[in-house]
Amino acid sequence: MQTPKGTRDFYPEDQRIQNYLFQTWTATCIEFGYEEYEGPMFEHLELYTGKSGNEIVTQLYNFQDKGGRDLALRPEMTPTLARMVNQRSRELKKPFKWYSIPRLFRYERAQKGRLREFFQLNMDIIGTDSLYAELDLIAAIIHMLRKFGLSATDFCVGISSRKLLAALLAQRNLLNPEEILPILDKKAKIPAEKFQEDLQTAKASLLDVEFLTKLMESAGLAELHELCATDEAKQAWSELDSLFQQFDALGLKEYVSLDLSVVRGLAYYTGVVFEVFDRSKSMRAIAGGGRYDNLCARLGGAPVTGVGFGVGDVVLKDLLQEKGLLPEVSLHAPELFLVKAGSPDLLPLFKWASQFRQAGTRVAHTLQFQKLGKQLEAAARSGAAKVVFITDDVTDTLEIKELATGNQYTTKSQELLL
Ligand code: HAM
Repeated sequence: MQTPKGTRDFYPEDQRIQNYLFQTWTATCIEFGYEEYEGPMFEHLELYTGKSGNEIVTQLYNFQDKGGRDLALRPEMTPTLARMVNQRSRELKKPFKWYSIPRLFRYERAQKGRLREFFQLNMDIIGTDSLYAELDLIAAIIHMLRKFGLSATDFCVGISSRKLLAALLAQRNLLNPEEILPILDKKAKIPAEKFQEDLQTAKASLLDVEFLTKLMESAGLAELHELCATDEAKQAWSELDSLFQQFDALGLKEYVSLDLSVVRGLAYYTGVVFEVFDRSKSMRAIAGGGRYDNLCARLGGAPVTGVGFGVGDVVLKDLLQEKGLLPEVSLHAPELFLVKAGSPDLLPLFKWASQFRQAGTRVAHTLQFQKLGKQLEAAARSGAAKVVFITDDVTDTLEIKELATGNQYTTKSQELLL
């Protein structure tokens, strides 16, 4: 029997890499002062189905439990976060910065970069309108990707604004953003005629189509500014403008770009939105997020604003692999591998191992007496730095072999126990 479609087994060599991803994610969150939270793996179905009209609703793994309750495996973390915020809205001192690394489930067509079960780092800032929240989050993504060894030639954060798009559509009297935005989202992937046809089907006039084409093709903020005629549009434009100035001031300019094709599939975004892509855009999005003003209120709570993003493990791992940036050895390989010479009695190994472990050293050894050659092969496979030869004699001098250099020498056991 094999794993269900779109799921993965993690053999130790795979789990090692997962752990490396999770540790780097966690280290970034801690460096930026985010606190960890968790929620249940399944929620009430209606947490996701609400009024959203999201594509994600068609991808739910939902079921009835034995008590007849409608439940769903979580396809994303943001609704859980909003529910948790609502439950303690008054006690929670805002703004706050939280992170989580949930296992998520989506009944998607399994393809490169998209699975049915995956992990996703979520970083969110709740309870501030300040644009510095967007700055903090995007700076954190850049920092995290750089920690993995990626550079500005490998990835780019594309930034847009739902608020600006909505204002520009309203400016043209196009009051059906839920129909128009998905077409803008697809623009890069479909021929120009199809783009025009789809817009016309969504009740856009020829002049609207011309406007939207110009919008999507505008090369920079200055060009975009010329299209903004209303106060709402100008205000949303200014937000983007000041965000880009801040990236400039922080020396992060090379990692970000204005990208109006970033529309985001999820319906709850209301402000700045962003996605991270590999530079050649040959892979699916590495990360995506944005500001959501109404989610808490939509779920029955007070109107608390949030901004955040999710980065999945799948595309990130593919990209790191392609760039040769995945660690080859275990981060937790034993420091010492004890081999037993002399009699087949292995108890001396256990005794020494226990002493070394009490001194905080990572130690491995054989559990079955083997010839020395076999034990040394196992030591090499384990990734240990040093082999310690243990004999049946009681001694405080030990023979050591450094596996990388082949150097062999004796040392006082006390020195190894330090
Ligand atoms: P999302 O764009 O649906 O946003 O997902 C964010 C990231 O999760 C994607 O860019 C991708 O790396 C990964 N991802 C999504 N679906 C799959 C899949 N089927 N297989 C593998 N990886 C996948 C959200 O989920 C929002 N809730 C993020 C957010 C947090 N917004 C605000 N706070």
